[in-house]
Amino acid sequence: MRARIAVLAGDGIGPEVTRVSVRVLEAVARRFQHSFSFSEFPFGGASIDLHGVPLTEETFSVCAGSDAILLGAVGGPKWGEVALGRRPEEGLLTLRKRLGLFANLRPIRPYGVLAGLSPVRGVSAGSVDLLVVRELTGGLYFGEPRYTREEEGELRAVDTLVYTAGEIRRVSELAFRLARARRRKVTLVDKANVLETSRLWRKVVREVSQRYPDIGLDHMLVDTAAMRLITAPESFDVLLTENMFGDILTDEASVLTGSLGMVPSASLGDGGPGLYEPIHGSAPDIAGKGIANPVGSVLSAAMLLRHSLGLEHEAGAVEGAVERMIAERHWTPDLGGSATTRSAEERILFALEHPGVMAHEKGAPA
Ligand code: NAD
Ligand code: IPM
Ligand code: MN
Repeated sequence: MRARIAVLAGDGIGPEVTRVSVRVLEAVARRFQHSFSFSEFPFGGASIDLHGVPLTEETFSVCAGSDAILLGAVGGPKWGEVALGRRPEEGLLTLRKRLGLFANLRPIRPYGVLAGLSPVRGVSAGSVDLLVVRELTGGLYFGEPRYTREEEGELRAVDTLVYTAGEIRRVSELAFRLARARRRKVTLVDKANVLETSRLWRKVVREVSQRYPDIGLDHMLVDTAAMRLITAPESFDVLLTENMFGDILTDEASVLTGSLGMVPSASLGDGGPGLYEPIHGSAPDIAGKGIANPVGSVLSAAMLLRHSLGLEHEAGAVEGAVERMIAERHWTPDLGGSATTRSAEERILFALEHPGVMAHEKGAPA
């Protein structure tokens, strides 16, 4: 098959990990006889430096016309003081919003061999397998009005939290459909004891659930969910939640895998290209050192193959290659190992190109 993939590597470790994923996708194309073309654009801070804005119209229109978008991460201290409207992160939010990518899928599936690395006790092989479905284009991130101004001699800042029933319904439908192919349980995470929007979430999700009688639905307050993710992570299947809760809970849940660097994501809408990015940021503290964990990005590339290109077998091959690297204890420092991003790339490519050959055998990378 032919596919056009837009590549927005971004800032910090974004380009370091995205490079690995592009190499992996190229290897997939070679091994399975596909033709992928890649168009790379500066994005976020890199685009601000070059064009003055985090997302140019040209970049947007190439993304909109591509089959899928592979993204690294944006932001960093260099652009910390940039005026509102021109921050790296706003390029990302604008891209998600304008492409209508309302659903962000964040699977948390720790590898058994890494279970001991998690500070959370009791994460054992295969015990945790949860999927967070995060609403991505509504809520506080896109509130109107939003401003800071002086009122009665004091600065006052406002962010508005708005959800419509339609916004809740479409992401909920997807969560229920995904639950059907899993353990058939959806947990809606909200703050319905305080927030009006959360009460609307409960009402709409309950209505949607009527059409999925085979799927169990329960509700959990977000503060409790934060606790239960650590004390009983195996009790969750699909967690459905609004934008900001989903952001925070997934960084928390990532510790179950051993590192924030392990978790991929897919952002999907109704038709149009999907966007694939690791859940971590630009990691300014390790950028440029060549030690970033590329797994979250590479597993995002696997999600791209699966969700945007329908290449399930190829997605599985990539996931298998990553799993083999992890099983062979080829770990980057965030996992307590001494692998580099580059050596991880070599291992994953080797596993992809030589299925069945273990890395300690002849010809394998050291
Ligand atoms: P971060 O996710 O960049 O880093 C948090 C910690 O995790 C750091 O110690 C970092 O070294 C570590 N880490 C993250 N990814 C890693 C990887 N792949 N391998 C090894 N270690 C990894 O969060 P932050 O430092 O709070 O944010 C830095 C910048 O990134 C901010 O500007 C933020 O807005 C931005 N950010 C962007 C995205 C995105 O583009 N999707 C996501 C989150 C944060
Ligand atoms: C993420 C990031 C973004 C978010 C930021 C950079 C806008 O934290 O993708 O998780 O909050 O959505
Ligand atoms: Mn985040």
